[in-house]
Amino acid sequence: MRLVLLGAPGSGKGTQAQRLRDDKGIPQVSSGDLLRDAVARGTELGKRAKAAMDAGELVSDEIVLGLIRERLSRPDAAKGFILDGYPRNVAQAAALDRLLVDIGQPVDAVVLMDVDTKVLFQRLTGRRSCPECGKVFNIYSSPSPRGDRCDNHPGAAEAPLLVQRADDREDVIGNRLKVYESQTRPLVEHYRARGLLKVLNADQSVERVYAEFLKAAGG
Ligand code: AP5
Ligand code: MG
Repeated sequence: MRLVLLGAPGSGKGTQAQRLRDDKGIPQVSSGDLLRDAVARGTELGKRAKAAMDAGELVSDEIVLGLIRERLSRPDAAKGFILDGYPRNVAQAAALDRLLVDIGQPVDAVVLMDVDTKVLFQRLTGRRSCPECGKVFNIYSSPSPRGDRCDNHPGAAEAPLLVQRADDREDVIGNRLKVYESQTRPLVEHYRARGLLKVLNADQSVERVYAEFLKAAGG
């Protein structure tokens, strides 16, 4: 299964990709997570990416392609992958096509997570995630049973405290949504024209979205 997940910030790409990963053992390849990891480790690449991320702008195509190429070359990606957040503009889609031809792994489907923009603000301001395992929660729709600590670790009292992403501030969210509309939305037509696009209604419960997602993914 080789999938691309397309959708606005907060549409649920990470949530659904993590479910599918846990269910089917297919790696989630999230450009955002790879970038946040580079920023947290203070690598040269992370330092170059940080200002764009903090402002809700796209990081340069060349930096992100390098990360994706490296990630897809690891052994676990040989049996499939879920690309979450890549590609994000037409140039990245062209670079991805070339990369996948090189490694002989064409995409099976591109899944668009369709959600009304009005819903996205609350999802993003309410998001919390675990700094250690990356599990995603929402203080409104899916809080951790352990309050402000992750439920994915042994020992409720010692489990990591959940954190809010630096770009989940209202002013930055507005810019991320604008960038999505201007740079990423054109990919919907790009993939529709290639016969790869599957649209799913992502404004339903996580479980219902997952059921549609499985169907769209052919599993
Ligand atoms: P990235 O990390 O990719 O962020 P994003 O695209 O803005 O998307 P999000 O991760 O915010 O949303 P999501 O769709 O994963 O939603 P989630 O499942 O978490 O990118 C961050 C930055 O990195 C970019 O701004 C850019 O700077 C840079 N970057 C990344 N990729 C790049 C690229 N290719 N090129 C250049 N730069 C790049 O869900 C959100 C919340 O909603 C959660 O709290 C969740 O619990 C909740 N939720 C999910 N589903 C539901 C549901 N069905 N009902 C109710 N609540 C739900
Ligand atoms: Mg995400």
